[in-house]
Amino acid sequence: MNIKDADLHRDLLHKNKEWSARMHQDNPELFTELAKHQHPFFLWIGCSDSRVPPNQITGTMPGDMFIHRNIANMVVHTDMNLLSVVDYGVNALGIDHIIICGHYGCGGVKAAMGKEFGGVAANWVRHVRDVARLHRSELDLIKDEQARFDRLVELNVIEQVYDLSRTVILRDAWQRGRPIKVHGWVYGLHDGLIKDLGVTCDRYVHDADTTLATGNSI
Ligand code: CO
Repeated sequence: MNIKDADLHRDLLHKNKEWSARMHQDNPELFTELAKHQHPFFLWIGCSDSRVPPNQITGTMPGDMFIHRNIANMVVHTDMNLLSVVDYGVNALGIDHIIICGHYGCGGVKAAMGKEFGGVAANWVRHVRDVARLHRSELDLIKDEQARFDRLVELNVIEQVYDLSRTVILRDAWQRGRPIKVHGWVYGLHDGLIKDLGVTCDRYVHDADTTLATGNSI
């Protein structure tokens, strides 16, 4: 690592000072209010990809969104990190809109389409391989590789909406009458636009219910 690389982080600290001053100038009360409490309206579950920053692509501000990110925006039933975020978001913060947002060109999904590979990330991507296996009959019909990749990105989001809707956290919240909605979105790296897949779920999904698992994109 050369000197320039070693000092890269200083640029962030410098930019942070500028940002803080700018925000304060725009709204002198902002940080005072944010320091008191948070009342986010949205819980965002997205990919860790550096090109998909939730607040920037939705034009939201600090305090607007409670956020969880991992490779390929997965909802894994044994992931205590994710479950803790969902539990806190739903039960402590009272959030009623949960957004699961994937993105076209997702490296995690792409890896699941290729040969098996070693390393820790391979274990994580295994979950996406399961989604591909579940929808193999549909995916095999798509001859164009890019179109098949795009569709797997969408199907992966749909499956995560399904999985999240089957958690005990949401089941209990819906039983108590909470109007929670789980939305499935996909972000386009090529144009910066979000597509709503039209698979919004507002109820507990039973095993026999396959409407979500086969949801069509719009
Ligand atoms: Co990704």
